[in-house]
Order: sequence, then C-alpha cells, then structure tokens
Amino acid sequence: MTISVQGVVARGKGEPVEVTTVEVPEPGPGEALVAVQACGVCHTDLHYKQGGIGEDFPYLLGHEAAGVVEATGPGVDDVAPGDFVILNWRAVCGRCRACARGRPWYCFSTHNASQKMTLADGTTLSPALGIGAFAEKTLVAAGQCTKVDPAIGAATAGLLGCGVMAGIGAAINTGGVTRGDSVAVIGCGGVGDGAILGARLAGAQTIIAVDVDEAKLEWARGFGATDVINARAADPVARIRELTGGFGADVVIEAIGRPETYEQAFYARDLAGTVVLVGVPTPEMRLDLPLLEVFGRGGALKSSWYGDCLPSRDFPMLVDLHLAGRLPLDKFVSETIGLGDVEEAFAKMGRGEVLRSVVLL
Ligand SMILES: NC(=O)c1ccc[n+]([C@@H]2O[C@H](COP(=O)([O-])OP(=O)(O)OC[C@H]3O[C@@H](n4cnc5c(N)ncnc54)[C@H](O)[C@@H]3O)[C@@H](O)[C@H]2O)c1
Ligand SMILES: [Zn+2]
Ligand SMILES: [Zn+2]
Repeated sequence: MTISVQGVVARGKGEPVEVTTVEVPEPGPGEALVAVQACGVCHTDLHYKQGGIGEDFPYLLGHEAAGVVEATGPGVDDVAPGDFVILNWRAVCGRCRACARGRPWYCFSTHNASQKMTLADGTTLSPALGIGAFAEKTLVAAGQCTKVDPAIGAATAGLLGCGVMAGIGAAINTGGVTRGDSVAVIGCGGVGDGAILGARLAGAQTIIAVDVDEAKLEWARGFGATDVINARAADPVARIRELTGGFGADVVIEAIGRPETYEQAFYARDLAGTVVLVGVPTPEMRLDLPLLEVFGRGGALKSSWYGDCLPSRDFPMLVDLHLAGRLPLDKFVSETIGLGDVEEAFAKMGRGEVLRSVVLL
C-alpha cells in the first residue's frame, strides 16, 4: 500500500521544479512516515536541481524539515506517532569504523528509508539528502527523526535540520571556536549566519561577516557580526587582516563553496588558524594554492559536513537555547510559502532577497 501526496520534484538538470503526485510507501521495519509541517529552501536543493550534486533525477527536493510522526514500522521504539520531530540526514549506524571509534558525527553508513518513494508511474525518486520533505508526507529511517519540544514551531525548527545547524556546527564543532577568538564568515546566507550565531554562542570576540549584498550584511549584524565587509567594495583578505591587528582571523568559515572565496579564507586566517569549508563546491571546481603556503601557515584546513553535528545531542539543545531566548533562530525565516512557490523561492535566493523561504504544509 502506498499513500498519494503532493511533492516538489526536479525531473532533469536545470528544469523548473514541479508539484506532482508522489507515492509514499507505508513504513516498513525501522522506518517512519512523517507528516511534514514545514520545510526550508536550502541552497543545496538548488544544487540538486542544477545537477551539481549528482545525476540521479528525478529528485524529490526539500530536506530542512519538521513535522509530526504519523506511523512507524516494526522495530521502531525511539519515536512514536504524534511525536514532533526535526528530520535529520545523519541517522548514525552505531557500527561503522567512525561510530566504533566514538565519532558518530563522522558516521560513514547513515540510515535512510529502505523503501523508495515513486512518481505516480512508478519511477523511483531520489529524495534530497535521503529526506525529500517538500511533500505532504515523507518516508524516512526512524533514526532520521529527532524529537524536540514542539513549542519552537515547525518553521523555525525545520531550519535546524540542515543549513542553520551546518553553520552553527561549522563554527562550534568543526572550527572549535572558543571565547576570545576572532572569526570571519564568508557568505552570509542561512549557513553563514548560522556560523555567526555559533561563533557568538561560543564566545568569539570579533565576528567579521563578508558578503556581496548589503542587505545580507545588515542581517549578519543582527545575528552578532561585530564588523561587516562588502566584498564588492573592499578586498576581504586585506580588511579581515586590518580588523584582526594585521594578522588574520583565528577561524575563517567559507559558506559559499567557490574556489575564489576559499582562497580568500585561506589567506585571511592567522598563522596556525583554521579554515572551515561548509559551502558545497560543484564537481568541476579546482583549487590552486602554493603548497609551501599550506605548509608554512600551519593550522588546519577542514571541511564540515552538516556542521559535524550529532542530531540527538545538538537539536534538542539548540531548541532549548532558542526557547530560553538565547538563540534567535526565528530570524532565519524570511517568508513562508506554499509547495507551488519553490521555483520562485530559488529565484529569490539567487537575488539575495531571503535568508530562508519556508514551505508550510
Ligand atoms: N556543509 C553542509 O553540510 C551544508 C549544509 C547546507 C548548505 N550547505 C551549502 O552552504 C552554502 C550556502 O548555503 P546557503 O543556503 O546559506 O546559501 P545562500 O545562497 O542563502 O547564501 C550564500 C551567500 O553567499 C553570498 N555570496 C555569493 N558570492 C559571494 C562572494 N563572492 N563573496 C561573498 N559573498 C558571496 C550571497 O550573497 C549569499 O548571501 C551552499 O553551497 C550550500 O549548498 C552546506
Ligand atoms: Zn556509523
Ligand atoms: Zn541543506
């Protein structure tokens, strides 16, 4: 038995997305059926549509979501129907070599639903990041559901399911930002502003925001940036050095995914500092750096998948911090839209008009 719902599908590279019927199987062993309440539009959805992540079309897009568990399959006891959950793309296996070494946030074998959602004609869909939540209901592995306090509200909660968590975690978990640090964030969309929030939460003293859009820089200030740089008006590397006593920042976070901004991050950090790449590059991109500089500057060049988060540890904590008034997560929601508005939301993202458009279902 399957359930027919409406969902947003990308059929081919660069084609406009469309709302169409999606067939969702009833949950089998270890699976959960979730009634999606809200799902944010992340830049990664646009990467999928543009063929930047892979060629496994058709994709069922959407992966920054919160909702209510509707049904669970056999052997599921961590979540139950009625639970308010944030969906995650890191349901850790507990057995791979990363999990076995006590580093489950690097899990190499994360769980997704084993049954496939399909189009009405039976064509198998690839759900974005194993979630596919621009749909009224979606099927996931039960471990992809993290129960949190529903008081946060679905539109805000869902954003912790990807971009905002990736940003916060890039600063705190991957970058290891701590009190007194200087931090620069290049690219201030949902992910970059998450990194600014994370840096502030960790006690960074100087937080420098870099973007090419004045409105984005204004929002970045609202999240805690102490200084802003418009990369169209000034050289970000020189300005970051100026703002950090001539040295560069302790941690520089690249939240765009481009070689030229990665290079800026590389040169804008202090000796022995850390670069964190959280922006997602596309397959054709190449980097050319003098190896002597890589060696001579020391420190660490890291990348951050999902902010090295552990959903079961981090989501409830961040929701509680939000509810205590210490993390303004609601400020990421620029607008709420319907399933039919995703294509327009991509255009708004491109024009820099929104931090997050959130589909409400
Ligand atoms: N690593 C992860 O786990 C993870 C998770 C979610 C998203 N991402 C990736 O993070 C990146 C950002 O996502 P987002 O949703 O915040 O995107 P976004 O489009 O909302 O934000 C990108 C920002 O970069 C700015 N920008 C573009 N070119 C610039 C330049 N040359 N210099 C300075 N600023 C520039 C834009 O004005 C915009 O504000 C994407 O590549 C996305 O795929 C990674
Ligand atoms: Zn594992
Ligand atoms: Zn995302």
